[in-house]
Amino acid sequence: MDSSLTGITTTGTPHLGNYVGAIKPAIQLSKKFKSYLFLADYHSLIKVNDPDAVKESSMKIAATWLACGLDSKNSLFYRQSKVPQILELNWILSCMAPKGLLNRAHAYKAAVDLNKENKNDEDFGISHGLFSYPVLMSADILMFNPKYVPVGKDQKQHLEITRDIADKFNKTYKNFFQLPEPIIDESLDLLTGTDGRKMSKSYNNSIDLFSSEKILQKSINKIKTDSKEPGEKKETKDSIIFQYFNHFSDEEEINEITKEFEEGIGWGDAKKKLFTKINQEISPLRDKYFDLINNPKLIEDTLEAGETKARDEANKNLEKIKEKIGI
Ligand code: ADP
Ligand code: TRP
Repeated sequence: MDSSLTGITTTGTPHLGNYVGAIKPAIQLSKKFKSYLFLADYHSLIKVNDPDAVKESSMKIAATWLACGLDSKNSLFYRQSKVPQILELNWILSCMAPKGLLNRAHAYKAAVDLNKENKNDEDFGISHGLFSYPVLMSADILMFNPKYVPVGKDQKQHLEITRDIADKFNKTYKNFFQLPEPIIDESLDLLTGTDGRKMSKSYNNSIDLFSSEKILQKSINKIKTDSKEPGEKKETKDSIIFQYFNHFSDEEEINEITKEFEEGIGWGDAKKKLFTKINQEISPLRDKYFDLINNPKLIEDTLEAGETKARDEANKNLEKIKEKIGI
């Protein structure tokens, strides 16, 4: 049976971008395929060194997956750190990963470029973890050999690196891994944050998925628009408000809002309508989320059950991989 796998790094609080880019598509795929859905807690150490913050974020992200409909009986739901076989595979794959390929990884390259502009030392503040981040991500994926990996557009390069590493392994040791296919909706942009950049937990520009109605409304009101008055035709292209409608509406609703843009809907009315649209979808999930956050034992038990299954499978797969490499 084909399978699908995705993870979210346990930094901060899940936001609307994580929801539309990864969580929602992954839950949809989990209805059709065997699914591996996990918390990338070891990845978080690259950015966060506050133990309480890592723990709190893990709980929030786990509760989010469950509130959004993850069916833990029919999927494998786990923390990356509780499946140590992933770290063994990480070493094996790091011996297959050309350094030149990792030099070109976006996050590392961006950090080096920034240092070149601002510092004498191009390695300033860059950990080995940041450099080898894509290898750990390859290990997350190849540990379970999934066919599909639903992610946001920003992860495209990481999937290409994973495929390159898998291909190198296959050529070195004879075919073993299937090359995972990213599931990325190319027609949708990454969701923009309140400051106009990609919404990200790291940029302090995100709208929390489960913020209260009041805060959701306030955050939507803060989204940048042009200065056109009500009655003036609004452009859909480059409008952040329209981009949000695109992520949260069906085709018929998109046609309706496109027409309203042409007819000059005021930004205030467009924002009210957007709030109603998003809140309608999120509201029932929000209630479930807060029930779960107040029941950490249930979250812990659910994860532990998934981790037992994940370790069991990982062990079997790792044995086969080790046999291939002569260990
Ligand atoms: P962040 O950048 O906020 O730390 P993560 O790196 O943990 O988020 O991303 C988890 C998943 O959410 C990934 O699949 C990523 O592509 C997706 N994602 C993150 N930000 C956005 C966004 N602004 N729009 C769409 N998808 C996003
Ligand atoms: N790198 C991903 C992100 O920051 C999170 C992640 C870690 C992931 N391992 C993964 C996503 C494996 C998909 C598959 O968004």
